[in-house]
Amino acid sequence: MESLGVGILGFGTVGSGVYEIFKSNSQIIEKRAGKRIEVKKILDVRDFSGHEAESLITNNFDDILNDPSINVVAEMMGGVEPAFSYAKKALEAGKSVVTSNKALVADRGAELIKTAKDNNVNFMFEASCGGTIPIIRPLNTSLTADNIIKIEGILNGTTNYILTKMTAEGRSFAEVLKDAQKLGYAEADPTADVEGYDACRKIAILSSIAFGGTVDYNDILTEGITKITHEDIEYAFEMGCVIKLIASSEFKEGGVCAKVTPCVISRNHPLSSVNNAFNAIFVKGDMSGETMYYGSGAGKLPTAAAVVGDIIDEVRNMGSFIPTSWDIDKKISVLSRDMASIRGFVRVLINNKVEAEKSIDHIFGKVAFIDAGFENEIGFVSGVETESTMSDKLSSLGQCSGVEKIINMIRMEE
Ligand code: HSE
Repeated sequence: MESLGVGILGFGTVGSGVYEIFKSNSQIIEKRAGKRIEVKKILDVRDFSGHEAESLITNNFDDILNDPSINVVAEMMGGVEPAFSYAKKALEAGKSVVTSNKALVADRGAELIKTAKDNNVNFMFEASCGGTIPIIRPLNTSLTADNIIKIEGILNGTTNYILTKMTAEGRSFAEVLKDAQKLGYAEADPTADVEGYDACRKIAILSSIAFGGTVDYNDILTEGITKITHEDIEYAFEMGCVIKLIASSEFKEGGVCAKVTPCVISRNHPLSSVNNAFNAIFVKGDMSGETMYYGSGAGKLPTAAAVVGDIIDEVRNMGSFIPTSWDIDKKISVLSRDMASIRGFVRVLINNKVEAEKSIDHIFGKVAFIDAGFENEIGFVSGVETESTMSDKLSSLGQCSGVEKIINMIRMEE
């Protein structure tokens, strides 16, 4: 049987998972691909002396680029450079590239798809969004009869794991983050996870495919979970809700409304029961209605399985460019935040309850007060406001009689 070669870039969590899957599932992979697939070389600058893959390790990318037995390059280094330069050179050399690297796809995806098309190879990135969840392929193949209207979901395993453990076990943010790092969920620099940047890149990628044009992740409103406290979680509990980091993108006249923010959602909402490092994504189409995709959003083998799935797809389609719904020549604007309305759960530190309530009434009108048993503060749910009106009203309230400061505002499910 014909044999094809894979070069792995980056032998970290996901890269070593890809190597392991080729070892443990070689027979089924060979059967499904119709060809034997072998890992030929692995690029990593670290020392892997004594590792069983030691003989495959190189610290020189040219060893992979110039090896004619390598047909597919699997990039799992993370970050934009040198991943972009390596991917581009590999595509130009007639090798397909698969990647789990959302920073690379969000930043340079359109250019790499174009390079792949020009060279009659493929650039695939199923593992870049939602870990093992099939979402890129359904958007590119199964949902092509629809105008997609909205995508919404939990797209980061690390933050979902942290919020789940903070809620269920009352553990601290820092302690749970360390666990998420040990379990291989978090990025090398977990700032990308906890500040929402990772989920932002993923919603930009999904939007680019779903809405058919490049959506710039730099324009997406992004807030992480670093300001979420136990008190916020207790207030949410009082309201019959939980707090989740939600990424959403909705197609409107002239562009998309997209954001990544913590949200207070009802315990009846399907996303409320998506826990630990699981992710889930809703897609709403004008014909198919709502479909939901669920699975492990992070972790070594689940993410590596999506990478290997792409490699098998590439081997099955070798020699032809697989069409995508991402129109690489088109840009889709992210609309002004004021095109979207929000309801806010607001916590206010007070020095005089009567005065503070009067001030809240004066600025926000009728609100629903929430009592979670904390002293010297008031929690309330606002009416529906635009993002900028909400921001102006919070600034004004911070200056009012009876109010010391605004502690936090968390968006609520509409
Ligand atoms: N750090 C990412 C997450 C890994 O936690 O979701 C998967 O993309």
